[in-house]
Amino acid sequence: MSFVEWTNNLSIRVPEMDQQHQQLVAMLNEYHDAAKAGKGHEALNALMNRLVDYTKTHLNNEERFLESIDYAFINSHKTEHRRLTEQVLELKIQFDSGDLSTGPKLLDLLRDWLVNHIRKVDRMYGDYYLKQVAARSSVKTTA
Ligand SMILES: [Fe+2]
Ligand SMILES: [Fe+2]
Repeated sequence: MSFVEWTNNLSIRVPEMDQQHQQLVAMLNEYHDAAKAGKGHEALNALMNRLVDYTKTHLNNEERFLESIDYAFINSHKTEHRRLTEQVLELKIQFDSGDLSTGPKLLDLLRDWLVNHIRKVDRMYGDYYLKQVAARSSVKTTA
């Protein structure tokens, strides 16, 4: 059983963002498996760097997407992202100082945050976007 299981209830029906969320889930599982297999400091360090970097990349990409659809709740969404980034970076400093026990804490933080955030907060912009798409296509068919 994986550390994080991708299930359909994590889908927000925006394919590009679903793909990035799946990538994050894959990276969380990869780190978890490597740690469980007893991989060394160097390997875990490389995986953690990739995971944290990709988390930042995803949050940035998502914010660009929210701007592109004129999302009404973009500011509170960005605040949530900023809070996570601060928490992650704080733990990452400890991790980088050689405290590998921070690894599982970082992993738990990212998993819990990601799953809750996707289900509640990301889903809201997914619904908002799908309404926009539906409104555009109904304008097209009635024009
Ligand atoms: Fe988000
Ligand atoms: Fe997201």
